[in-house]
Amino acid sequence: MNVFITKQIPQAGLTLLQDAGISYTIAEKTLPQEELIARVKSFDALLSAGFVKADAGFLEACNHLKVLSLFSVGYDNVDIAAATRLGIPVGNTPGVLSRATADTAFLLMLAVSRKAFYNYHKILDGKWQEFEPVADLGVELYGKTLGVFGLGKIGYEMAKKCRAAFDMQVIYHNRKPNPEAEEALDARYVSFEELLAQSDVLSVHANFSPETKGLFNKEAFGNMKAGSIFINTARGGLHNEADLKGALDHQTIWGAGLDVTNPEPMDPQNPLLKMPNVCVLPHIGSATVETRDAMAVMAAKNVIAGLKGEPLPTVVNA
Ligand code: DGY
Repeated sequence: MNVFITKQIPQAGLTLLQDAGISYTIAEKTLPQEELIARVKSFDALLSAGFVKADAGFLEACNHLKVLSLFSVGYDNVDIAAATRLGIPVGNTPGVLSRATADTAFLLMLAVSRKAFYNYHKILDGKWQEFEPVADLGVELYGKTLGVFGLGKIGYEMAKKCRAAFDMQVIYHNRKPNPEAEEALDARYVSFEELLAQSDVLSVHANFSPETKGLFNKEAFGNMKAGSIFINTARGGLHNEADLKGALDHQTIWGAGLDVTNPEPMDPQNPLLKMPNVCVLPHIGSATVETRDAMAVMAAKNVIAGLKGEPLPTVVNA
């Protein structure tokens, strides 16, 4: 039994595969789709650690796979209906990355509120001269309202931090209310329109899907509270970048923090990177030693179960 791994993953996952008697091959570079299909032909399983676009065509060409294990919680890059039709179980890594990803949203919120990246660049550019009482002021977060779009595991962790650190009020919008989270966080379910209108910080934690694609557009930004901050650590496709830039230019909103962009990587010349109230990170939400180890273990366990013909511990298409 063998598995093809599209990128180097932490040793913790590789050791687990070895101990289970599964041999693995790690791609030496990112392979174009056709080459990947050709390579995967001689493997029983695929561990995708770099958002391989597993559309229906790819899955049909790889329909011999006993399991497709994703090194991510997100699975918007996989045609799940096609995988199910072809009998390929797809595993992901939910839960273990919630805290690290919420930490990244929190970091961006704070960095935007104090223009941290811009001020850091002022030093590099030799523009730190004297103390200025009214220059480059930020805004405080104490007692403000956090709006969570998508109160799942990651949104919950973000809300918990914001309550503990800044005593923020929590409102949220989901497809359906989440009573346990409401009780634990003293959170209030609101309509999408209310979320836009009432959030001082609006943090996006929802899946990317046809329903959420481009949801944060000109109209949505236009309906956000004046002086608010937009944070997205979910997927870049949820916001329209030109509309976000327009909202920042016209000061419809105060600032934005992004760990995800569309496309990725972001062009280094992107004008958003020069804006004082904008902080962008290169999709590092889950990038801690501890979290990546846990993701590797989870992804390996899904491979092992799939190759044994057992149900995957964390399956997307049960
Ligand atoms: C995920 O898991 O979906 C993240 O975007 C990658 O860490």
